Amino acid sequence: MLNTTESAFDAWTKDWSSSAPTTYRGSEELAFQRWFKFKEAFSPSLVESVIDAMPRRPTQILDCCGGSGTTGVVAQFLGIPSTLVEVNPFLADLIEAKLSDYQDIDLPSLASRILRRAEKMEIDVESLKARLPPTFVEPGVKSRWIFSQEIICMIEAFRLSINSCVDKTARRLFKVALASVLIEVSNVRIDGKGRRYRGNWQSRDVQAEDVKDAFVEAMQRVIEDIYRHARVRRSEFTLLRGDARKKIPLVEGPVDLVLFSPPYPNSFDYTDIYNIELWILGYLTTADDNAQLRQSTLRSHVQCAWASKGEVLQSLTLEKTLEKLNDVKGELWNKNLPDMVNSYFCDMRTLMQECERKLSPDGQIAMVVGNSSYANVLIDVPKILSELGQTLKLREISSSAARSMRSSTQQGRASKTLAESLVVLGR
Ligand SMILES: C[S@@+](CC[C@H](N)C(=O)[O-])C[C@H]1O[C@@H](n2cnc3c(N)ncnc32)[C@H](O)[C@@H]1O
Repeated sequence: MLNTTESAFDAWTKDWSSSAPTTYRGSEELAFQRWFKFKEAFSPSLVESVIDAMPRRPTQILDCCGGSGTTGVVAQFLGIPSTLVEVNPFLADLIEAKLSDYQDIDLPSLASRILRRAEKMEIDVESLKARLPPTFVEPGVKSRWIFSQEIICMIEAFRLSINSCVDKTARRLFKVALASVLIEVSNVRIDGKGRRYRGNWQSRDVQAEDVKDAFVEAMQRVIEDIYRHARVRRSEFTLLRGDARKKIPLVEGPVDLVLFSPPYPNSFDYTDIYNIELWILGYLTTADDNAQLRQSTLRSHVQCAWASKGEVLQSLTLEKTLEKLNDVKGELWNKNLPDMVNSYFCDMRTLMQECERKLSPDGQIAMVVGNSSYANVLIDVPKILSELGQTLKLREISSSAARSMRSSTQQGRASKTLAESLVVLGR
């Protein structure tokens, strides 16, 4: 039996090392983190090092942009209670699946039952097509489709079979396992610029049996991780589903450490990136659901035409940046980018303000953020956040480079790099 919480963390990360603290790289090999390739995750080692650098061990941690739940998983292995907020319902399920207790559930028997039940299911492809966007199922739109009819019917049989599990916790877990195989059996791939058809998709030979094999493997993976680490003392966690701007006031304080990585102001839309999981698994059922989810995310992309509320923030650097963006308005790939950048920092200030209200007297707010650039105008995110922190009586404890990311051509600086930073604020 493991008797110290530190040794639980060490046992989890034994034989594992991560060279890139702000990325998912390396986490494919790590229990729990390997359940779903969440490319925007930071590394468990980043969470550990932020905790280690604090003057005392935190007794409560908050991550208001939970993503794949890295902060919560590390906190559990270190025996520290945590609260996570996540707006995307699929990602919220991923977090809850990783942090839940499965002690009283016979997962292997349930997994076998799911497979057996799915074999007997008859899927009506027409009603399936009616519930999904037209591009999802063959014949798709303009001779392109994401899933062949054979593949989508197999996936739907597994989904319905999972849904008939009585136990909600098990249902959530197996849904996450099914989510993890969707992209690999689809005709698309996801990269930093969104969803694209694979070069060879028309000649790819993926069959129903491949979906089954991938799903079986995914179920084995999650069950193996849960049983291997079952003796770890579980610390309490709270998951708040929804928009952090509205949910942080509901967090039970005081919180010693707020640690999060918000979306970057790079126009990367998480609702788009995880659209396949959201629709296929039934989190979205109408175009309106999709639009509403987008509207609830931080204003870091131009997929929504955000109504400019004319909000003015007290940051000299932001003011100058907005002036420069307006000067090059004609060169921007989207005319709403200056509004988006301003709205982004309004949202970030709201998050910092709400988090500050929950902070213990010596508590800290640590943010992993990334710069962006449009038409060669740099958005210096750490500097602007530090200036906004001052308006909330938060001083900068440190601001350090975490790694450099390659900018996309969309950001107007092909093959140059943009810094990622860890900014720590306190009173
Ligand atoms: C960079 S990811 C966080 C990754 C996380 N640190 C991890 O290791 O998995 C940012 C997350 O913020 C979430 N998000 C965006 N807008 C939000 C909002 N208004 N409230 C809560 N979460 C939000 C996104 O869905 C995404 O999961």
